[in-house]
Amino acid sequence: MKILLIGSGGREHALAWKISQSPLLTELHCAPGNPGTAALGTNVPLTDTDIDGIMDYASKKAIDLVVVGPEAPLAMGLADDLNKAGIPCFGPSQEAAQIESSKGYLKDLCAEHSIPTAAYGRFNDETNAKAFLTTMSAPYVIKADGLAAGKGVIIAETSPEAETAIDEMLGGRFGEAGAEIVIEEFLPGEEASFFAITDGIHIVPMIGAQDHKRAFDGDTGPNTGGMGAYSPAPVFTHDIQQQVMSQIIEPTVKALAARGTPYCGVLYAGLMVGPDGPKLIEYNARFGDPECQVMMRRMQSDIVPVLMSAATRKLNGQSFQWTDEAVALVVLANQGYPGAYEKGSVIRGVEEAAALSDVEIFHAGTAIADGKLTATGGRVLNITATGKTGREAIRQAYVAVDRIDWPEGFCRQDIGWRMLERDNT
Ligand code: AMP
Ligand code: GLY
Repeated sequence: MKILLIGSGGREHALAWKISQSPLLTELHCAPGNPGTAALGTNVPLTDTDIDGIMDYASKKAIDLVVVGPEAPLAMGLADDLNKAGIPCFGPSQEAAQIESSKGYLKDLCAEHSIPTAAYGRFNDETNAKAFLTTMSAPYVIKADGLAAGKGVIIAETSPEAETAIDEMLGGRFGEAGAEIVIEEFLPGEEASFFAITDGIHIVPMIGAQDHKRAFDGDTGPNTGGMGAYSPAPVFTHDIQQQVMSQIIEPTVKALAARGTPYCGVLYAGLMVGPDGPKLIEYNARFGDPECQVMMRRMQSDIVPVLMSAATRKLNGQSFQWTDEAVALVVLANQGYPGAYEKGSVIRGVEEAAALSDVEIFHAGTAIADGKLTATGGRVLNITATGKTGREAIRQAYVAVDRIDWPEGFCRQDIGWRMLERDNT
């Protein structure tokens, strides 16, 4: 089977790593890929949003399956174009991908199908939005309706702050994405991510994970794409997973099919596990990054048959096997990330770190320049380690981090603190 994987992050390197272990694979192509995927297949110099280029390449190379990593090509309709051309695609249609790209669309779907989520209102004018605030208590959660690169959510502690956020968003701070806003009840609890693969009807549950969104230790500093992750997440028990499947994932898949927009791909549920059980914060139409990397390391079975069956709408009776071992991941990022950072600094010691037992390193924003590994992105390397316990996995990940010589980089030193706090052994 010839597979074309779209994307260039740590998530895609981990997917490529897992896919390349499949006996079904004959060729792996990655567009554009990174130095990590180059070692596993052929990197193709096409950006992930070059829809015409991808379509052209997929038909010229007689690709059997396209696996889409990031959301941008999905929101542009790549899956629709591939399906029209008769090329199986793992990833939802543009319409189904709206569960990520429009928060209001998702909230209405939840309300219609009694899917547990925060109470909310949708607004496109300041007066009604501010009137709605008076019916709620602090803190207030104000969200731009559209995609705002992960920056479209403001949690305001006081009502004047919330009013400012409303004015700014509806005033155009996020452009079109903020032309409509959603105001939500604040959900207390611990966040976790859960993933399930569906062909539009059948569902294969994956596992839960937790990530660290803030840049600095103690979960402080600006929001990032994710500075570390681990699985299993102790807060995400078997019971919670069952509830998420029956109350959230299954009704969502049914509702999307009933609307005539069946969802094919991975559903990434961002959840709050609180006193009233799990509630949905948001969906993404893709694998989480870095959660995908820890899941790929825990997956014992072949991923390719499930991806192909989902893409060809034949997912029935399949399942994944997972190791009980824990996996931890530490992101090495460029100093300055998520703000401005320098590109081109040299990274040494990656091979020495990767040679440690139980360690696997995934590339994200790296490049090879003059034969040397250099940093070109914000999040640069993902250091993963397995262990019998979460504590062991985390310890080994940091042993590997210490072998890497990159003065221009930084990482959080406290990945997994929630898990360690729960498990005092
Ligand atoms: P979102 O872009 O919807 O995932 O929101 C970004 C982050 O804001 C989430 O990861 C949560 O940490 C936080 N958040 C969003 N909605 C809520 C809510 N209703 N209650 C508490 N925290 C929230
Ligand atoms: N880990 C957060 C995300 O992928 O959006």
